[in-house]
Amino acid sequence: MSYSEQHDQPTVCHIGETRKPVEPCTIVIFGASGDLTARKLIPALYHLAKDKQMPPDFRIIGFARREKTDETWRQELRTALDQFSRTKPVDEPVWKDFSAKVFYCVGDLTDAAAYQKLEQKLTGFGSAPLRKNLLFYLATQPSQFGAVVQQLHDAKLLHKENGVHGWQRIVVEKPFGHDLASAHALNAELTRFAHESQVCRIDHYLGKETVQNILMFRFSNSIFERLWNRESVDHVQVTVSEKLGVGERGGYYEEAGALRDMVQNHMLQVLSLIAMEPPVSLEAEAVRDEKVKLLKSIRPLTADNVAKQVVRGQYFAGAVDGQARPGYRQEPKVNPASNVETFVAMKLLIDNWRWSGVPFYLRTGKNLPQSASEVRIQFRPTPSVLFAAQCGQNLDANALTLRLQPNEGISLHFNGKVPGISTQVRPVRMHFSYDAEFGAYTPEAYERLLLDAIAGDATLFIRRDEVETAWQIVDSIRAGWNDKPLTNREFYAAGTWGPIAAEDLLAQLGHEWHEPQVIK
Ligand code: BG6
Repeated sequence: MSYSEQHDQPTVCHIGETRKPVEPCTIVIFGASGDLTARKLIPALYHLAKDKQMPPDFRIIGFARREKTDETWRQELRTALDQFSRTKPVDEPVWKDFSAKVFYCVGDLTDAAAYQKLEQKLTGFGSAPLRKNLLFYLATQPSQFGAVVQQLHDAKLLHKENGVHGWQRIVVEKPFGHDLASAHALNAELTRFAHESQVCRIDHYLGKETVQNILMFRFSNSIFERLWNRESVDHVQVTVSEKLGVGERGGYYEEAGALRDMVQNHMLQVLSLIAMEPPVSLEAEAVRDEKVKLLKSIRPLTADNVAKQVVRGQYFAGAVDGQARPGYRQEPKVNPASNVETFVAMKLLIDNWRWSGVPFYLRTGKNLPQSASEVRIQFRPTPSVLFAAQCGQNLDANALTLRLQPNEGISLHFNGKVPGISTQVRPVRMHFSYDAEFGAYTPEAYERLLLDAIAGDATLFIRRDEVETAWQIVDSIRAGWNDKPLTNREFYAAGTWGPIAAEDLLAQLGHEWHEPQVIK
């Protein structure tokens, strides 16, 4: 019985039910001794096995330089799973069966002999599909992608044409380059020995239930979509705020900054799902075509526009939830004179028929007062007659909030009469909550993404032109900043909502940021 069946409403349809069954395969994780494998990948694969979603037969091979045996790696993974699994305790029979399929291959990514060893391990499984159907997860530095792909090709483990040689796919993580030119070069390296259709570029935001629900919400309900345009929408706010500072990730963050770390990928992905046109079908290419089209419709930012439309900030020492936080420049591995931004807010305009003139405001930052991701569709106010004439600016315009995390759900804000003999108006809200409706079950983003990669469904992966278009937008902002040092106005205390200039950005058009909702 599905969750909806346990509640009042039966599920009306199961999209993708006709997807062909996942075939036996081997998943090879390069850079397997890193954090990602223990925290995310293995827990996700374990849960897929537990939920009986994995292929009828599969193997997992961790490939890394550190000396380990299959057994010691299994033990390490088990310790990590006890800590990071979303369901606890770990199911012993499932783990026993799962861990018996997990192997370790010691090797250097640049050493051809290591790939021969990998090939022997694969052949040793004694099954053609386990040898030929291969998912290569590159949890390595992007600078190593080219070498790995070349070696896989040389060792005849990766074939450009699928079919006779089974299937092979390559999964890569962000950061996918650090600008358009480097992304371009990475794409060229990856597609030298693999087709674009064999490359799965992950953005973990697309694996989130609430992000996937954006399309379902927009295109399976008639009442919202007909308001989803410049006639009814005043502006849109996308906030992805984090309470955490950069902590131990200073080394990485110094190269990235908020713009590359969050805007180039997660935020532009959310924006494209919110604003894109209906695709002609739910096929991967149709959905991705519309996302790219939307990104291409964003008005290009000239240096002059960047100064007016984009605000950057960096936190100095402050407190979050009463706990003292150091300034960014005092974080480990950060240059004490760093000009890297830990906050960005911007106004984007989309030059298409639907959105002409509607500002889209995006903001993200570290060490902010709340950890929350949400999209607020702010509708136009009512004409200034009747209640609006009497209440003026005090009468709230309608708004729809998509809470991506936490308190996952959707709220509609409208005005209501306060019960009583006098006539008083008050904003009220209607809430849909995932937890209340479906129970607390929410698979991790990586579960869905890994399963799609195994099944060869590309819808939730980022296509080459998508990643490159997103870099174009980000590059134009960086060009506008032109490596200029931060000014005093661009700093904010840890625990505040960014520099004052972010408020001023919205005030230009009489708007203001809404704090993410906390649903009690
Ligand atoms: C990652 C960024 O991609 O996303 C991190 O590198 C950020 O800096 C994280 O903290 C946010 O993801 P989530 O799922 O916690 O919103």
